[in-house]
Amino acid sequence: MTALTLSTSSAATLRADAVVIGVAKGPKGLVVAPGAEAVDQAFDGRLAAVVETLGGSGGEGEVTKLPAPSGFKAPVVLAVGLGDLPAEGDAFDEETLRRAAGVAARALAGSKKAAFALPVEDAESAAAIGEGAVLGAYSFTAYRGGKDEKPAKNAPLAEAAILGGKPRDKAFKAAVERATAVAAEVNRARDLVNMSPNDLNPKSFAAQAQAAGKEFGLKVEVLDEKALLKGGFGGLMGVGQGSVNPPRLVRVAYTHPKAEKTLALVGKGITYDSGGISLKPAGHNETMKCDMAGAAAVLGAVLAVARLGLKVNVTGWLALAENMPSGNATRPGDVLRMYSGTTVEVLNTDAEGRLVLADALTRASEENPDAIVDVATLTGAMVVALGDRTFGVMANDDAFRTSLYEIAEEVGEQAWPMPLPVELRKSMDSPVADMANIGERMGGGLVAGVFLKEFVGEGIAWAHLDIAGPAFHEKAPFGYTPKGGTGSSVRTLVRLAERTADGDLG
Ligand code: BES
Ligand code: MN
Ligand code: ZN
Repeated sequence: MTALTLSTSSAATLRADAVVIGVAKGPKGLVVAPGAEAVDQAFDGRLAAVVETLGGSGGEGEVTKLPAPSGFKAPVVLAVGLGDLPAEGDAFDEETLRRAAGVAARALAGSKKAAFALPVEDAESAAAIGEGAVLGAYSFTAYRGGKDEKPAKNAPLAEAAILGGKPRDKAFKAAVERATAVAAEVNRARDLVNMSPNDLNPKSFAAQAQAAGKEFGLKVEVLDEKALLKGGFGGLMGVGQGSVNPPRLVRVAYTHPKAEKTLALVGKGITYDSGGISLKPAGHNETMKCDMAGAAAVLGAVLAVARLGLKVNVTGWLALAENMPSGNATRPGDVLRMYSGTTVEVLNTDAEGRLVLADALTRASEENPDAIVDVATLTGAMVVALGDRTFGVMANDDAFRTSLYEIAEEVGEQAWPMPLPVELRKSMDSPVADMANIGERMGGGLVAGVFLKEFVGEGIAWAHLDIAGPAFHEKAPFGYTPKGGTGSSVRTLVRLAERTADGDLG
């Protein structure tokens, strides 16, 4: 992973492969952003003109490479577009810096060290640059190179030195340490999503949680298929029974001796979703290794909280199963007795996420946490509603939903509040069981949320993040978002834990 450092060196004297500067769209054309003054001086104040002549406009995501001026240790200057210049007196916002640093870091794959001379206002902006660099440099190479060594040519940028900050200042140090921990866990979640489903199954996922938990001092408990059967986890067992890879429920607990609040995070962990007997058609199953992205985000978030030593208890629940068709699979028409005791008629085996989550929500509720957040690639309907970059936020508590939506925006994740209309519940009435696992097609993302709500313990604040859109990125990379697993919602969950630790949430 890309190492982050704060440096007091100037852009001219730092030994690096490239100096990254920012350029923006001003009212009269391209302007050089703050932080690059020394570079501009070395160009006799003509840097903006040079970048513009090379075709630059300052637009977001744009990269212009030019030879560094003589006297510079670094051979190359990389100008990254920041978009529109903020209004007089305003600074560039954190997400703009995060994305620009990500674009630059990705463009510098194959380099060892880059100096980031982007606008640093305070510790937070320095951290945003660092976080963007680590996230943008990410690449998944586990399966590249066959039996040979990994190709070194386009290895991720090894070190990002952030210029313009105060390396000896406590706030700067802490902010960069935080960025390192959080970005590492976002990247872990991405790795888990990108692993092929023949490598990552419920058992191997649980083993990874155990190993990582041990490294950071967490308590990890795994219920295997025998324990799940004995415990009455009918949702997890029903979804997992068609696969040769049996289900698991993993509990990953971080505790702080002075914590006043406990958060429970529940993740959908379908390591592959074929749809089961209600098999998905070709064109709909090629990316379904991503269906454990919720569980990956929950694991990453709990580990990040542990690395940061936050004063809050956080329990992660990973509901792991593989949804496959077989002679042993749940049939459409089967009735499952869930962990809560509720019976559910499975009318569509492709609506499996809500079944495994229901059991995990009931189990999490037994410990009476102050709040529960579940994260799931739950419905195609949410992708239709919000597109592929925005996750939906539903909740049984309006204030909690608003908090989560605001927190997401604060950390640079796109989210939008969605309702849980009570009238949708009756569309899930079953003629034989307490309820069915599907209901009305319209508002399908909300129907799924209404289903989940039934399994949350009385009086517990609960929110549901449907990350089906942003969890897996199929288009060209942008900002710090690569192709494939994105680590969606890890940063939101970590900030929620920080806010809870600070006593900012009810
Ligand atoms: N894992 C899918 C949802 C999904 C779709 C995730 C696209 C990521 C991208 C989920 O298990 C599913 O199949 N949902 C069904 C529910 C339906 C049968 C009620 C869907 O959305 O079609
Ligand atoms: Mn499904
Ligand atoms: Zn699914």
